[in-house]
Amino acid sequence: MDPELRARAEAAAGFMPAGEGLALYQAAVLAARAVPAAPLVEIGSWCGKSTLYLGAAAAEHGRIVFAVDHHRGSEEQQPGWEHHDPSLVDPATGLIDTLPAFRRTVHGAGLEATVVAVVGESAAVAAHWRTPCALVFVDGGHGPLPAHADYEGWAPHVAPGGLLALHDVFADPADGGRPPYEVYRRALEDGFVETSATGSLRVLRRPAPTNSPDAGVVPDRASAARSTAAAL
Ligand SMILES: C[S@@+](CC[C@H](N)C(=O)[O-])C[C@H]1O[C@@H](n2cnc3c(N)ncnc32)[C@H](O)[C@@H]1O
Repeated sequence: MDPELRARAEAAAGFMPAGEGLALYQAAVLAARAVPAAPLVEIGSWCGKSTLYLGAAAAEHGRIVFAVDHHRGSEEQQPGWEHHDPSLVDPATGLIDTLPAFRRTVHGAGLEATVVAVVGESAAVAAHWRTPCALVFVDGGHGPLPAHADYEGWAPHVAPGGLLALHDVFADPADGGRPPYEVYRRALEDGFVETSATGSLRVLRRPAPTNSPDAGVVPDRASAARSTAAAL
């Protein structure tokens, strides 16, 4: 990864540890190589930290990152919650607004031609999305409803051979909330195949089609079972 972009990503405000960010970058590179011309999509950008890891890979391969976020923060980022940052509250509305910080992060990294902000509710964007994606990175709402809605809305848009990356996946409930882990298990059951695990980041591949009429996006349950066993 470009050292300047890596330094900027590590310095940016957000929730992506450096090791997981590098793994995300590497996944984006592999996805760009595997699926020609397709974009990368991020669900949950906050101030643009993870976006820079994806943006670095996209810039190297001539791709676009669509960064989807309503920029109002998740539940745990609201006043009174663990990850609230009062400096991100817009005094005009009294609401969190991370879009200005996000834009500064992307501008500072020189990635404005690579990263396209899509400001809105993830499920609404997903419902109208039509382009197969080389990679979908899901790090939006972590409650049961938004986490499963993100999976249902975005997993179908991962191109065959493309990657689905899930953040904050914790096998042990003592380490973190359940919904991202439930989504991870659901993806395995649906035929995604795990390709890497780094910290709480899980990267899964949608099997690419082969010459067999029964192959392709049909779930490879044997592989899913092996991955599930390995994850436990
Ligand atoms: C954990 S933060 C993302 C952290 C970020 N990936 C990073 O590297 O720092 C979750 C983000 O998801 C966004 N979000 C939560 N629910 C959403 C929804 N339903 N639609 C769009 N964005 C949502 C929040 O606004 C917040 O910015």
